[in-house]
Parts: sequence; structure tokens; C-alpha cells
Amino acid sequence: MADYKNILVEKKDAAIVLTINREKAMNALNRETVAEIQGFISSHWSDDSFGVLIITGAGKAFVAGADISEMKDMDIEGGMDMSARGNYLFKSIQNFPKPVIAAVNGFALGGGCELAMACDIRIASEKAKFGQPEVNLGLIPGYGGTQRLSRLVGRGKAMQLILTGDMIKADEAYRIGFVDEICAPEELMDKALAMAQTITSKSPLAVRMAKDCVNRGLDMPLSNALDFEKVNFGAICGSYDKTEGCTAFLEKRKAEFKGK
Ligand code: CAA
Repeated sequence: MADYKNILVEKKDAAIVLTINREKAMNALNRETVAEIQGFISSHWSDDSFGVLIITGAGKAFVAGADISEMKDMDIEGGMDMSARGNYLFKSIQNFPKPVIAAVNGFALGGGCELAMACDIRIASEKAKFGQPEVNLGLIPGYGGTQRLSRLVGRGKAMQLILTGDMIKADEAYRIGFVDEICAPEELMDKALAMAQTITSKSPLAVRMAKDCVNRGLDMPLSNALDFEKVNFGAICGSYDKTEGCTAFLEKRKAEFKGK
């Protein structure tokens, strides 16, 4: 694996765990960290040696947002550039061919909340806290928060969180459907790895196509999205994995998927 300064990358069973590791700054996403995560995503786009990417944070934060020290003197052009780089990264995570699980260990604020939303599934420690506190800084969310939050939890809750800047605890985030599971802090990584293992035992081709259909469908009117699903369903019926999966079921044995 490449040498990084602000992230740790570790292979664990069928998953790669990417830990954002700027503990002293609550894992705030400075320019360098965004570039390192982007470097990891780009260089592992076609890597089939793992099935799931897990993103977490070191210490008591997942990510406490974009790095505020880099924004104080930022001008209009700098702000657009920063938002463009962050949005490009978060779109890359959303479109990454492998599922991405956010294992949210602590504060997920601003850009950290937005990072969690760009992931496919969110598992949170009971200690995690979420929020979009940008209005406290005279800012608005700039890494997708104004768009992904309303799609995830609905317009009213998104407005409440973004306009008040209030933080919510993990149980409330679970209640409103922001996170998909909560667990004790010491169970977080085991839970994420177990979920990664379950996903990796399925057909990689089906997993990739299902993720793509869900994500791309959300950007389309329903009737177009249903057509998109139909074409993909047809395509996957031509795969080895579909024949193997259905045959294995009928023969009452475990399927041996090949991802083709
Ligand atoms: N950027 C830069 N540094 C940060 C940071 C951030 N987002 N969040 C925390 N830090 C730094 C603090 O400045 C502090 O540094 P020093 O030790 O050098 O003073 C260190 O991390 C520890 O932080 P605290 O002492 O504040 O720790 P705490 O436990 O009392 O509070 C916290 C933790 C609630 C997360 C608090 O640090 C906090 O509110 N952080 C800012 C959260 C925020 O506003 N995020 C939004 C950023 S804007 C954004 O993200 C825009 C966008 O959409 C792209």
C-alpha cells in the first residue's frame, strides 16, 4: 500500500479499513487529507483483492468537518475549488465499485457528516454525534450536505439540522434513519467487518450492479429508474454468477461466485 501521512490503510479479511488519522485535529479534512483519500480511491478503483471498503476515524472523532484553519482566509475562488475537490471525492466514494461502509466512531460533523452520507451504509457507535454546524461558522455545508441530507432523512429534518447547526446523538440519528445500525463502541469494527464479510460472500457482480442501480436510480425519475433496473436485470441474467447462484440454490449447495 502507498505511504500516507493522514490516513491508515489496512487489509482486514475481505475488507480494507481506511482510518482518517489526524487525531489532534479531530480528523478534520484538510486539503492534504482529501487528496490522500482521493489517491486511495483512484488507485483502488479496479482492485478486486477486497470486497468492501470501511471508513472510520482515529480517536474520539470520525471527522469533525473540513479543516476550519484552511477556510478562515479563503476567498470565493478558493471556496469553489475546495467544494469542488470535496464533492469530487465524495462522488467517487458514492460511485466506488465496491460497497463503502462508514463505521462512525465519534463526532461526524460538517464534512464528516457529509462523508458518512457519501458512504453506502452507516454503522455508528453509541458515542457518535452528528451535525451540520456550518451556520455557526457563517458557512453552509460544502461537501454535499444540503443535497444528501434531505434525500436521506427528508426535507424537514435536514432543514432542522442544517439551519440550527445542532448536534444529534447516535440514537436520534438511528431513529431518523440517518444511520442504519448502532452498537457499543467496542463492537463497532467487528460489526462493520461482519457486514463486509456477509456482502463479500455474495456475487461481486450482483453487489456492484445493485449499488449502481440504487445510486443512479435516485438521480432519475422513477419510470426511467425502473427501466434502468430492467436493463441491468437483463444484463446480469447473462452472467456466470446468476447461473451458479440459481443452480446452487436448486442443488441445495453453497454458490461459488466468480464475479463474472
Ligand atoms: N477544523 C480544524 N481543527 C479542528 C476542527 C476542524 N473542523 N475540529 C476540531 N479541531 C481541532 C481544534 O481546533 C482543537 O485543536 P487545538 O488542540 O490545537 O486547539 C482540536 O481539534 C481538539 O478540538 P476541541 O478542543 O474543540 O475538542 P472538543 O472535544 O472540546 O470538541 C468538537 C470537539 C465538538 C468536534 C469541536 O472541536 C468542534 O466543534 N469542531 C468543529 C466542528 C465544525 O464546526 N465542523 C464543521 C467544519 S466546516 C465544514 O465541514 C464545511 C463543509 O461542509 C465542507
